[in-house]
Amino acid sequence: MGNSPVKTHTSENQTDQNRNYNNMKFKFSCSSCFSSASNTLAVNRSTQVCAGDQLGGEKFRVFSYNELQAASQGFHPSNKIGEGGFGSVYKGRLCDGMWVAIKVLAIDELESMRGEREFVSELSALANIKHENLVELKGCCVNGGERFLVYDYMENNSLAHTFLGGDQNRVKFGWARRRDVLLGVARGLTYLHEEAEPRIIHRDIKASNILLDHDFSPKVADFGLSKLFRDNTSHISTRVAGTMGYLAPEYAVSGHLTRKSDVYSFGVLLIEIVSGLKIVDFDVELGERYLIYKAFDMYRANTLVELVDPVLNRDFPEEEAVRFLKVGLLCVQDVSKKRPKMSKALKMLTDEIDITNQEISQPCVADPMDIKISGHQHSTLSFFSRGSTSVSTLSGNSSYHKRE
Ligand SMILES: Nc1ncnc2c1ncn2[C@@H]1O[C@H](COP(=O)(O)OP(=O)(O)O)[C@@H](O)[C@H]1O
Ligand SMILES: [Mg+2]
Repeated sequence: MGNSPVKTHTSENQTDQNRNYNNMKFKFSCSSCFSSASNTLAVNRSTQVCAGDQLGGEKFRVFSYNELQAASQGFHPSNKIGEGGFGSVYKGRLCDGMWVAIKVLAIDELESMRGEREFVSELSALANIKHENLVELKGCCVNGGERFLVYDYMENNSLAHTFLGGDQNRVKFGWARRRDVLLGVARGLTYLHEEAEPRIIHRDIKASNILLDHDFSPKVADFGLSKLFRDNTSHISTRVAGTMGYLAPEYAVSGHLTRKSDVYSFGVLLIEIVSGLKIVDFDVELGERYLIYKAFDMYRANTLVELVDPVLNRDFPEEEAVRFLKVGLLCVQDVSKKRPKMSKALKMLTDEIDITNQEISQPCVADPMDIKISGHQHSTLSFFSRGSTSVSTLSGNSSYHKRE
């Protein structure tokens, strides 16, 4: 990695290789630490970056590479806290004592990344989206061709890391904690969908994107990142396809993205957290078995309460747990219009909306064989649903299979 700080530019003619922050003025020191007053950069509505400016009183910092390097002790392997589709994530401590998570964007992702100027302005807009259940973006860093994102550090890592992966992990999550985590995620998503400016569809809700702070309060991570990519890239990157058990079928198949795709992923996550089971299990004889199908079968058999994680030792309010599972099932119904919007799902969870007599229709799972990845031509575009054998047309070329 190089060692040059982001430069000040005024040039008009830009190329991808030599892109400047046109109309932007940066001011910061090359030392690894600098005072927040001099290095606080804000981006105004016309995406100009000016030292000292602030948008709505919010601070967004463009860090120097040196500062991030010092914070993470040279990106030392012992500070690595995670590895995801975007690249590696390091823990670091800034010179003001604040702990941060530094995401080093992977080369593969960089190829489809927007130019530097758009990158910084998109991120600064994201940094204005604040909610107690969203991970706070502190800033970014551009170092030649390298890009870094800087977030608040979450002490208890992610649900995937801290909750899943063994009975002994899940024991630490009693019913009240699971309920509070799910309510927090629902609130964070409601905010993104219905209140944030601009409104944001997350696209990648999954256990590893739900981070937990020191108090196990949930924070949704990685929202809005798709805006960092150029428009001509595929609707589903290989990164997202890696967690396709959460992907709404209509999104996986046709790229048709709505808030209801997030609602679907939330439903899968909810059933996963309440049951403690994997979203897809493999059985040698039966092949892949999807948790949401299992949940739907138990709903029809009126045995949903038995799906609640056995490590809870029946120490949970049955009515509430079953209500949560039913809300999860409402969120994964195959017809997206039938899924509640997030604010409604939240009210269902808290029993402000009664769902006792609400009928739940069958869920549906995207077929991994047919997911469109990386902007190549459309594949067969099919997905499987349970409970019917009819084949229907979804839209355009898209079709889906239904299976018993
Ligand atoms: N702000 C953060 N605080 C603590 N840990 C984090 C933070 N951001 C990411 N991580 C950890 O790094 C891992 C990789 O993150 P990421 O690159 O977003 O990939 P993914 O979301 O696909 O897991 C996460 O699963 C999580 O364990
Ligand atoms: Mg993530």
